[in-house]
Amino acid sequence: MRPSLLPAVAALTLLTGAAAAGSLDDRIGRAMFERLWVTAPASTQATDGLGPLYTARSCATCHPASGGLPGGRGRPPTPGDAEDRGVGFVLRLNEDPVYGRQFHTLATPGIPAEGRVTVAWKDEKVAYPDGSSAVLSRPDYGTADLGYGALAGGTSLSARLAPAVRGLGLLERVAEADILALEDPDDRDGDGVSGRANRVGGAVGRFGWKAAHPTLTRQNAEAFSLDIGLSTPLFPDHWGDCTPAQVACREAKHGDSPQFEGVEIPTTILALLDGFLRRLPPAGGDAPDDPEGAVLFAATGCAACHRPSFPAGGEAVAAFTDLLLHDMGDGLADAVPAAEASGREWRTAPLWALAAGRAADATGTNGNLALLHDGRARSVEEAILWHGGEADGARGRFMELPLSDRQRLVRYVLSR
Ligand code: HEC
Ligand code: HEC
Repeated sequence: MRPSLLPAVAALTLLTGAAAAGSLDDRIGRAMFERLWVTAPASTQATDGLGPLYTARSCATCHPASGGLPGGRGRPPTPGDAEDRGVGFVLRLNEDPVYGRQFHTLATPGIPAEGRVTVAWKDEKVAYPDGSSAVLSRPDYGTADLGYGALAGGTSLSARLAPAVRGLGLLERVAEADILALEDPDDRDGDGVSGRANRVGGAVGRFGWKAAHPTLTRQNAEAFSLDIGLSTPLFPDHWGDCTPAQVACREAKHGDSPQFEGVEIPTTILALLDGFLRRLPPAGGDAPDDPEGAVLFAATGCAACHRPSFPAGGEAVAAFTDLLLHDMGDGLADAVPAAEASGREWRTAPLWALAAGRAADATGTNGNLALLHDGRARSVEEAILWHGGEADGARGRFMELPLSDRQRLVRYVLSR
């Protein structure tokens, strides 16, 4: 730890107070997660380097504490409220030549922001075979108040909600061989579910909605660069996501410092943040047994992707994921790939700690569920009805169930 970082860390540790239990390293890691970064140059180099383009000033802004625990899920914009930007809600781009990889709604003084995200919702009725129905809200994302002219013709948008960042240390411990053993890219067993691992630089990807990052360190370093505009040894550009066309942004003052390995966030700080997240437990895990729910979950075909048990470094974790990518059909598809994942493929989302109340992991800051990669599903039922592609069979079997079994299945999912 650099001496010049200590006063700021001490102050933040005081602010986070008694809730920041655990070792000193974890308290510092948590302070880094919650720190609001500022524009360079600041009186202390240890907190500057924000932006120039950014989407939020801290990790915790997008992954806010919930249920008394740090690292919860964000919240999508509220339908019908044009002013509401949500929390931890971002637009990824497929490498726009001017706007880059992410659409930044904020910028440091003197630098134009990229604009504002718009969402229009269209309600669609889904009819069950038993005559009952549900309403899905289909989002249509756009941009407005563009700071650098029109987006390029070929640029596509992909809305992403910040997931909870708990229990990730367990997912990191899963052996690559155990993930690869579940791959069935050509659906040889003929169950309609294929699934393949994402691969990044020779490693198996496992973090993010598209499993585009093999390690927590890489995921966190990219968050510093892409979301906050801070450089690390892994992503050393101090301008973050500014492209050469964004001249003022590229030339703005920055916080790279020789005492921090020539970047804004040195290895030591990144490692403390990684360690803090690695040890942050999943919020669930104490769900009562529900054998009938488990049977229904398996018989409906949910368990083909949401594996109830997975080996992770000698222990079995009930993360309800296979860490594989699945084609989820047109309804959830967009045109922004990540590493080897296409726009149609998403990583099976872990279902641990969806329990309402206990684990606000799945609950947006307004108390509603906000499920799927962009938070569009307001309930487990809606999330299932959005499943298509390889999950089409499971969705169909769910819809055929009598109402009481549908409710029982949803209760099971919510109590994991
Ligand atoms: C502007 C909002 C925003 C900020 C700031 C932000 N994140 Fe995230 N984070 C997201 C979104 C959105 C995703 C999902 C991205 C994806 O998969 O495409 C995500 C994903 C993650 C994941 C992967 C979780 C999983 O289930 O695999 C981790 C870990 C993470 N963020 C850590 C961090 C850290 C550490 C910071 C601060 C350095 C940070 N984030 C800052 C929005 C944000
Ligand atoms: C073919 C694989 C597959 C099957 C089968 C499947 N899922 Fe999923 N599930 C996924 C993927 C992939 C996602 C993430 C999709 C996205 O975010 O767009 C997901 C997301 C979810 C989510 C949202 C989780 C979150 O954190 O936002 C819930 C809830 C869910 N599934 C429940 C179920 C249930 C219940 C069943 C059985 C009826 C089921 N799934 C069957 C692959 C599958």
